[in-house]
Amino acid sequence: MVITATAPQFHYSRIASQPQTAGSSDRFESSASPQAFPTRAQLLSLTRPAERLAPTLGDVQGPYYRPNAPVRSELFSVAEEGTRVSYRTQVVDTDGHVIPGAMVDVWTADKNGVYDMESSEFRGRARQQADGEGKADFGAVRPGNYDLGVDPGTGERLFRPAHVHVKVSAPGYQPLLSQLYFHDDPYNTIDPIIDREEGERGYDPSLVMGTEGENVHTFKFVLAGA
Ligand SMILES: [Fe+2]
Repeated sequence: MVITATAPQFHYSRIASQPQTAGSSDRFESSASPQAFPTRAQLLSLTRPAERLAPTLGDVQGPYYRPNAPVRSELFSVAEEGTRVSYRTQVVDTDGHVIPGAMVDVWTADKNGVYDMESSEFRGRARQQADGEGKADFGAVRPGNYDLGVDPGTGERLFRPAHVHVKVSAPGYQPLLSQLYFHDDPYNTIDPIIDREEGERGYDPSLVMGTEGENVHTFKFVLAGA
């Protein structure tokens, strides 16, 4: 493998699940008014320490970042060819509290796997501040897999899985630089760039976006305190 110099120096850590709310199977609910008595789960929540979320895993910036992308929600113009997708994101801290006003900067390749590095249109790039609920939604076309050329050692043609580059920042928190992946990309597990541990290739599962329909992708960024 010749492409190893950019492998990031991060350890795996999966994002912890959100704290659970009271379940409907609580047996107190069948014999007492919910207005009169708290449920067992509610009582437990008062005595347990809150479950903390793991900060989102970082990843390399790559060579295609351009600063000062336009503040907007659409990465491409309406004329851009490709499959339309939406990214619905939210920024929270490790306690699960939303971070209103966080800056979310996103960039991707176009459907052919090409980044716009020159044009004043900043194709494939946008940034915006999260709203009062920590949410920032973007529209785009699905990026293509980009060709990294032929591995001279094996003769294998190498492709990167489709991905979305992100920078997320907010005052009082450590800035996040990472990449998000699509759940159904066939190259996820053979990504030649992401090779964090010897003998292990491929994406980190914690960076795969969720889905809300075929072309609506979701992700919750968890920022660590500064
Ligand atoms: Fe990239």
